[in-house]
Amino acid sequence: MSTLSFQTNFNKEHLSQYYKFHSKIYDATRWLFLFGRKGIIKHLKTENIQPNIILEVGCGTGKNLIHLTKQFPKAIIIGMDLSDNMLDIAKEKLKDEPCVFLLNQPFNQEDFLFKGKIDLIVFSYVLTMNKDYNHLIAEVKKTLKKDGHIAIVDFHDSKINIFKKWMQFNHVIMNDELLKSIKNNFQTQSIKIRKGIFPFWSYFSYIGKITLND
Ligand SMILES: C[S@@+](CC[C@H](N)C(=O)[O-])C[C@H]1O[C@@H](n2cnc3c(N)ncnc32)[C@H](O)[C@@H]1O
Repeated sequence: MSTLSFQTNFNKEHLSQYYKFHSKIYDATRWLFLFGRKGIIKHLKTENIQPNIILEVGCGTGKNLIHLTKQFPKAIIIGMDLSDNMLDIAKEKLKDEPCVFLLNQPFNQEDFLFKGKIDLIVFSYVLTMNKDYNHLIAEVKKTLKKDGHIAIVDFHDSKINIFKKWMQFNHVIMNDELLKSIKNNFQTQSIKIRKGIFPFWSYFSYIGKITLND
């Protein structure tokens, strides 16, 4: 058994196990609380971002990949995920898209073929699942082109501790440290912090680019 040198909030086996069941109900349930996913992809257009090569880390069942193919029909789009159950669903949805490539791996592979060549990296509800998100942010800087962009949508914070505990049980660590770290690492183009339809938590959408000294 191989050991991964990155850290999600739980180990890979635990996370894969979680998605073995949750992949089956993912698309039917997550629209209820994973807000801002379609919005951030639309917002890339407003920000005048026109990528040729896009990577979505933690693409899951491929919902965002579909929106990305529609918005950027000429782009090469790579979807990466460590859960093969989630990717199986994405594969089925995207089988007729010749420019989409799916990779079953975590985002820290030294030998990732497109290192330094990606124009846009998308993280949609992934970073809060990775305790060591600063490691992933460092990987982003190695993977993006010099003028590359990052687009992130994720949980921001909640004032209700019992809700945070429930989210932790579901592999999500929710606090405002993540957004602070992102702002420290990228040149911000746009930030929106919003509440979902339930008042328990807020989520953020962030678009930024690599800073000149990276
Ligand atoms: C909450 S789902 C989000 C899926 C999709 N991005 C969306 O917005 O619907 C999180 C996904 O990220 C994947 N994931 C979490 N950490 C990852 C990592 N470090 N590398 C690759 N995939 C990861 C999980 O396996 C899961 O499929």
